Amino acid sequence: MTLARNTVEMAAESSPQQPRVSMEEIAALAKRRGFMFGSSEIYGGIGGFFDYGPLGAILKRNVKNAWWRATVELRDDVVAFDSSIIMHPQTWVASGHVAAFHDKLVDCRNCKHRFRADHIPTPGKCPDCGMTGTLTEPRDFNLMLKTSVGPMEDSAAMAYLRPETAQGIFVNFKNIYQTARKRPPFGIAQIGKSFRNEITPGNFTYRMREFEQAELEYFVPDDGNDVACYEAWVAARKQWYADYGVRPERLRFYELLPHERPHYAKAGTDVEYLFPWGWGELESIAHRGTYDLDAHMQLSGKDLQFFDEASKSHYTPILIESSAGMDRTTLTMLVDAYENETIVDDAGKETRRVVLRFHPQIAPIQVGVFPLARNKPELVERARTIEGSLRRSFRTQYDEGNVGQLYRRQDEIGTPACIMVDYETLGDATVTVRDRDTMRQDRVATDQLVGYLGERLGER
Ligand code: GAP
Repeated sequence: MTLARNTVEMAAESSPQQPRVSMEEIAALAKRRGFMFGSSEIYGGIGGFFDYGPLGAILKRNVKNAWWRATVELRDDVVAFDSSIIMHPQTWVASGHVAAFHDKLVDCRNCKHRFRADHIPTPGKCPDCGMTGTLTEPRDFNLMLKTSVGPMEDSAAMAYLRPETAQGIFVNFKNIYQTARKRPPFGIAQIGKSFRNEITPGNFTYRMREFEQAELEYFVPDDGNDVACYEAWVAARKQWYADYGVRPERLRFYELLPHERPHYAKAGTDVEYLFPWGWGELESIAHRGTYDLDAHMQLSGKDLQFFDEASKSHYTPILIESSAGMDRTTLTMLVDAYENETIVDDAGKETRRVVLRFHPQIAPIQVGVFPLARNKPELVERARTIEGSLRRSFRTQYDEGNVGQLYRRQDEIGTPACIMVDYETLGDATVTVRDRDTMRQDRVATDQLVGYLGERLGER
């Protein structure tokens, strides 16, 4: 959602800092180190689709795991779910997506390029060819991607790739509460792919046509506690970003004004991060009333109310939703972790290093292990043995080569701890452990490594 902002929550927001890094630098680092690549690049790519490389795949998985851990595993009132991407087309009629999931599209008659009307910086002027008076009137463009199901490609076979995961939860509400034996207040969570045919995908992996959402749908009884419950979820999500070290001065929770939210919603908050180009939405948290269940009951004719055994009454629970983009959160972790800093060595020589200060739970690799010299088999073997012994407890990587370059590479991929196996190791079974952020080096006995690293890195 893009909205005019008139209130801000955190003091630092009124003076946003200069970007520490450009998106071009982030994209170059992501490609160089194997975080993200444009999809099908060998054929020239396809706009709005991205692939996650070996490190990016772990980074995104860690982000999803962190969300799942806090939202599902550490609570006893949220159950897991995983619905299909393609659903009955009527789902999207009931949800309102067929009628209203539109962006305004304008064409340039001169260069033939298409734009989202609200993405045109100078009204009436084409952002690509610069001509004025060549843009068409805005018209509605539905963002749902279509496909066909089965061997016929006629209109009866037409289906949509889901534009959000939430509807899979709503249509299954009864199946889930009955089988999980839950009663409101309780939540249903899922992480999965969603698809939107964005008119102008861009800003690297920020606006894509295929992306992943982590959605929590929390159902509460209509007993007057719904707004307090919504506020508790906003607080829980604030805590989550803080727990994973996202800089508070680059994060804001914008409370939607009554005219900015749907008529049935009592409250809404957009979580936004200060990207190099400005504020961008990561998540929306919304009080949705009974709108979604009501809409599906009306169109399907099926009962999705909760039956309360105790009072023998039926009611439609109120819904609190938290919907976070996992690709945007992954991008946030990358941008937020980025530092390009000057370091001074023992001889007073200044050099620059790029370091990603990931939270240890988010870092793709937690411990790098290297031999001091790769042509010394006894060092190589010892380093490999140590790396293997740590693998159960941490995400590890063995590497070898020039020492300076090894550290530089691990800093650039955000590895919090690096272990150097040297000649002393062969004699006294100790290693050097270098801390990514302080670059302090400790000598640690190899049989103490799991405890030493565990204290610094937490659980795997
Ligand atoms: N069920 C509610 C819902 O889908 P939304 O605000 O449209 O709400 C939730 O989407 C989140 O999904 C957004 O805050 C964003 O992080 C992510 N998202 C939406 N469109 C996206 C896109 N084109 N590319 C990447 N992430 C997107």
